[in-house]
Amino acid sequence: MTDARLAELADRLPTLRLLTDPSDLEHYGRDWTRRWTPKPLAVALPGDVAEVQAIVRWANEHGVAVVPSGGRTGLSGGAVAANGELVLSLERMNRVLDFDAVDRTLTVQAGMTLHAVHEAAKEHGLIYPVDFAARGSCSIGGNVATNAGGIRVIRYGNTREWIAGLTVVAGNGDLLQLNRGLIKNSSGYDLRHLMIGSEGTLGIVVDATLRLTDPPPPSQVMLLALPSMDALMDVFALFRARLSLQAFEFLTDVALKHVLAHGAQRAIEGDHPYYVVTEFDADEAAQDAALAAFEHGMEQGWISDGVIAQSEAQAAALWRLREGITESLAPHRPYKNDISLRISALPAFLHDIQALLGNAYPHFDVVWFGHIGDGNLHINVLRPADLSEEDFIAQCEHVTKLLAETLQRHGGSISAEHGIGLVKRPYLGSTRSAAEIALMRGVRQVFDPKGLLNPGKLFD
Ligand code: FAD
Ligand code: MLT
Ligand code: ZN
Repeated sequence: MTDARLAELADRLPTLRLLTDPSDLEHYGRDWTRRWTPKPLAVALPGDVAEVQAIVRWANEHGVAVVPSGGRTGLSGGAVAANGELVLSLERMNRVLDFDAVDRTLTVQAGMTLHAVHEAAKEHGLIYPVDFAARGSCSIGGNVATNAGGIRVIRYGNTREWIAGLTVVAGNGDLLQLNRGLIKNSSGYDLRHLMIGSEGTLGIVVDATLRLTDPPPPSQVMLLALPSMDALMDVFALFRARLSLQAFEFLTDVALKHVLAHGAQRAIEGDHPYYVVTEFDADEAAQDAALAAFEHGMEQGWISDGVIAQSEAQAAALWRLREGITESLAPHRPYKNDISLRISALPAFLHDIQALLGNAYPHFDVVWFGHIGDGNLHINVLRPADLSEEDFIAQCEHVTKLLAETLQRHGGSISAEHGIGLVKRPYLGSTRSAAEIALMRGVRQVFDPKGLLNPGKLFD
């Protein structure tokens, strides 16, 4: 160890895995944004809670910033380490600690992947219902820190709904047991909920007690082609009124173009500007209701075409059209927007925003998709070949400012589920009032007095 501080850490914790190889620094210093050049001091991979506490205490003594790190699938730059920070990866802390059949809870270490949690729940005939395409790589710690959403929010809500307890190492190294799995606990501030969505700035989640639930009834997956954005809202209202929805997701023809180019299979012929992938409970009565809803939508001119999956493989193929979009766009390193509105505000907002984006990006590929049933739109912008990265980002940031102002007028949020991180930091004030931000800063000061946990993320 050439760095004296690291040498001291290694002396203090002889069994700690500490990486300083340039390829490791590069690997652990970035997330899916790929915008910042990774430059961490080192990467620590603790094996237990005591090591996490010791690292945080060491960081306090030496004034070293710490970036908590899960699967680094984040899309807002939250896990980026570009300024000599210590990356604290939870990757080795990835075990199930407890299953309680009476409470129907699963307690897992923070580094466990979402997919591994799904599998562990399944072993007990239950499900953990938060789900999205990064399931194989993202971690429960990262899901908690971003309050991750995904494709089943319309039925089950965000990560927040499923966290019964958290164990957290605060910024001074103290260990906090938050809520301990209780269903009811009216004993003052619920610090567990402060941790959820805190983006690694208040503490390091070391384990989480997750609520599990019964698997849903058998379902069916349908792909619909729609003629217009207005029709999207009509079809959503129709399907929500008549069916018990598990998911209601949308994509545009531009998104479809990218996902097809990336290996997904076309399921509906012809050119249609909008598509919906929806999944709903499907007993016999519901199947009739789905057919009737579909026919009504066709008669009204809201639906142009549709296909219903006849097998699990077909259902998976339809889902791929929606779930494969992020990966298909990744080589372009898109500028991502992840916005949230009340569903009732969507039609008016969409009217304003289409005009804004049409004028702002006349020659750009703008890719729309997302969780329309939750009022959550992903608007990804791709860099034209003749524009430098720097000019591209500058242009996108200018448009995001206008987008943020429009969102503010419609009462929306600049981040629905990806978090503020580095990418949306300049726009926090469009979603949160100055008074709220002052309180958030105050909370951070209490949990992390020296400001060493993920500095520069969320706030300046
Ligand atoms: P990281 O990227 O490692 O970190 C994210 C943030 O959490 C950082 O601020 C980090 O410092 C902090 N953090 C990580 N671990 C801890 C910990 N133990 N304690 C405290 N802080 C911690 N997100 C959605 O919400 N919905 C989606 O539908 C969705 N789909 C996606 C699809 C793809 C293909 C990809 C690549 C990403 C998608 N995401 C989605 C974004 C991402 O997967 C989520 O934000 C996820 O929760 C990040 O988890 P992670 O372990 O990768 O966290
Ligand atoms: C999604 O819904 O697919 C994700 O949030 C990922 C993205 O926005 O790219
Ligand atoms: Zn999403």
